Amino acid sequence: MERKTPVISPEDLRRQAEIAQYIREFWQNQGVTPVACVETYGCQQNEADSEQIRGILEQCGYGFTDAAEGADLVVINTCAIREHAAQRVFGNVGALVHTKRRHPGQKIFVCGCMMGQPEISARMKNSYAHVDGIFSPHHLWQLPEHLYRVLIRHKKAWAVEDSNGAIAEGLPVVRTNALKAWVSVMYGCNNFCSYCIVPYVRGRERSRLPADILAECRDLIATGYREITLLGQNVNSYGKDLGLGVDFADLLTQIADLPGDFLLRFMTSHPRDASHKLFDTMASRPKIARQFHLPFQSGNDRILKEMNRHYDRAQYLELIDYGRKLMPDIVFTSDVIVGFPGETEEEFEDTVSLIERVRFDALFTFIYSPRPGTPAAKMPDPTPKEEKNRRFDRLLAVQNAISEEKHRAYVGKTVRVLVDGRDGDRLTARTGGGRLVRFEGDDGLIGKFIDVTVTDATTWSLVGAVTM
Ligand code: SAH
Ligand code: SF4
Ligand code: F3S
Repeated sequence: MERKTPVISPEDLRRQAEIAQYIREFWQNQGVTPVACVETYGCQQNEADSEQIRGILEQCGYGFTDAAEGADLVVINTCAIREHAAQRVFGNVGALVHTKRRHPGQKIFVCGCMMGQPEISARMKNSYAHVDGIFSPHHLWQLPEHLYRVLIRHKKAWAVEDSNGAIAEGLPVVRTNALKAWVSVMYGCNNFCSYCIVPYVRGRERSRLPADILAECRDLIATGYREITLLGQNVNSYGKDLGLGVDFADLLTQIADLPGDFLLRFMTSHPRDASHKLFDTMASRPKIARQFHLPFQSGNDRILKEMNRHYDRAQYLELIDYGRKLMPDIVFTSDVIVGFPGETEEEFEDTVSLIERVRFDALFTFIYSPRPGTPAAKMPDPTPKEEKNRRFDRLLAVQNAISEEKHRAYVGKTVRVLVDGRDGDRLTARTGGGRLVRFEGDDGLIGKFIDVTVTDATTWSLVGAVTM
């Protein structure tokens, strides 16, 4: 089968690199090293995109700062997943009027998932006169061109028109962390869960070629990265569009078999496509972390159907049981939505009972937020906000008790961790299952895999001592 995934041509990428070089010289001629502030909202996919934005900006001659105040360029990379995230963005972009007034040369770009929503990007364009440019995730690779328009031609840059979301390989990257790297293996989502905006703003599923992903991972390991997290909205449908006969489990195997001391993680898995083969692969490769983020969203079959999730409670539990039978030490984490339109008290109780049955190590709990344009936003939703808040609090209390018990069970055990930094007088590290451990130790341990004996635990983290 022919590859259907669209890609950006090398000539188009070269042209952007040339424009970047032009912008770099533009600044050099003025004897100025410009600084950019890139602010990121949302998920790891957006974090990874921001690393490419920084990569492109570095090519254009920019250094970086955490503060918008005084920056020559501010880029706000937005998230559209819930109303609250969107409101914060509007507030923060609004406040940039003042930083720009104090630093008139400042240029402001807004990008990311919110800019993939036509009514939102139109509002940004029409009501926020101090914003110089906006672009949706599909147009990130053309950042040099957008910047050229704003900086050199003194025009506004709008790039939000529909696109096939072609993949740009080989964009420069400035990574935030020197030990842990994100690697996107695919973009977009085809699932259209009825509450979710992602397929509308990120487009259809497109997979990168296995060879490109392997080359990137090989490079990362060679430069000393110790942890690689493969990213996609639904990693288990990786490769379906490529027709190469390589599925996600095959890709994981190929990466895990690269030489070097590193840990391989991945997210997110959709229960509909998570296969036994994937669990078998995890069990067979020690470099694959035994952590599985498997969002269940609801424990009730009617709600799951309304959510268009294509699995039921029994199928979900079967996956968990299969994974645990194969790997008793596997750590499961999940996402759940409370207050989906029409969710009754009884249906909510099914979610509580699923949590009690599975006993996740960690759970991300969200109150349903209507996203304009999605099917769920049109469903009747009679449950009052206070009631949804009450359900949310109840879930949190149930989960917190479980998290704490699970953490307590670590006390006395020895765990292998990757030491990733320092927080005050303690080193910080993560277990293969993603649990945070703090302990006393020398900075020389940062970047190493070591054994730590757990001495104490809280709901959120473990305390330990280096095992001699
Ligand atoms: N692709 C991933 C999740 C991406 S969004 C997956 O399918 O698992 C991360 C989480 O945000 C989702 O798992 C869901 O729990 C939550 N979420 C998505 N849309 C939401 C909405 N409209 N309201 C509340 N939570 C939502
Ligand atoms: Fe959204 Fe569902 Fe796709 Fe996840 S799988 S990004 S929840 S549509
Ligand atoms: Fe948000 Fe876009 Fe991620 S909507 S959660 S940043 S894919």
